[in-house]
Amino acid sequence: MVFISLQGVSYAYNGRKEAAVKNISLSIGQAEKIAITGLNGSGKSTLAKLILGLLKPQNGKIILDGRPVGKYSLVGVGEKLGYVLQNPSQMLFNTSVYNEIAFGLKWRGKSKNEVHYLCKRYLDLFDLWDLRYEMPFNLSDGQKQLVAISAVLALQPSYLILDEPTKSIDTFRKKKLKDILQEIWRRGTGIMVISHDTELITGFEGRRIHMSKGEVVEDAVRYTD
Ligand SMILES: Nc1ncnc2c1ncn2[C@@H]1O[C@H](COP(=O)(O)OP(=O)(O)OP(=O)(O)O)[C@@H](O)[C@H]1O
Ligand SMILES: [Mg+2]
Repeated sequence: MVFISLQGVSYAYNGRKEAAVKNISLSIGQAEKIAITGLNGSGKSTLAKLILGLLKPQNGKIILDGRPVGKYSLVGVGEKLGYVLQNPSQMLFNTSVYNEIAFGLKWRGKSKNEVHYLCKRYLDLFDLWDLRYEMPFNLSDGQKQLVAISAVLALQPSYLILDEPTKSIDTFRKKKLKDILQEIWRRGTGIMVISHDTELITGFEGRRIHMSKGEVVEDAVRYTD
């Protein structure tokens, strides 16, 4: 069953002569694990924003779980896809690290006890529980990134899109993230990771989509590196 479908999708930013994403067609299954690679400026983040409905393509169609992505509200997209954008500090808006995790859980109607349990569980993943009363604004870049990742993991989405999730995080936590992604994928969560980070991508068996100048130039399943 196709979960995300792109059909001839192109997108050019306002005022740019060259399109950032050119005529891309892809079919992605709900349980697929995909790494998207490519040089700076090759269109990876633009592709993610198109899938999330944050940008509207000038050409082509994007279907998310059977409906055009443009027909969903932002909240509706969030129910289908969990995501962390390339600049995670843009996603942190609560007054404490705890509330950053709790916010989405409360929105989904979880009880106070469940919220507490899940906040502890997901903040413990990356040793962030001791920082729970801190303002996200005051954290290091790596910590902010880990809070954003924990917040999305806590929602247990059926599909997860992470754009450069390891940019500021240390080797130890990177290994932890890699193991967590592998584990949730085994349990049925689809994953799209956009990354230049060879440490993360190496051994990340699954589909590899390589982009160059806005186009998909390679799309293959890899079993080993
Ligand atoms: N807001 C914007 N306005 C105008 N042009 C943009 C904007 N965002 C991206 N671009 C351009 O679109 C192209 C693709 O950018 P995109 O951010 O998708 O690349 P990327 O593959 O994610 O790069 P990186 O690896 O550096 O994150 C680039 O040429 C970039 O300059
Ligand atoms: Mg990018």
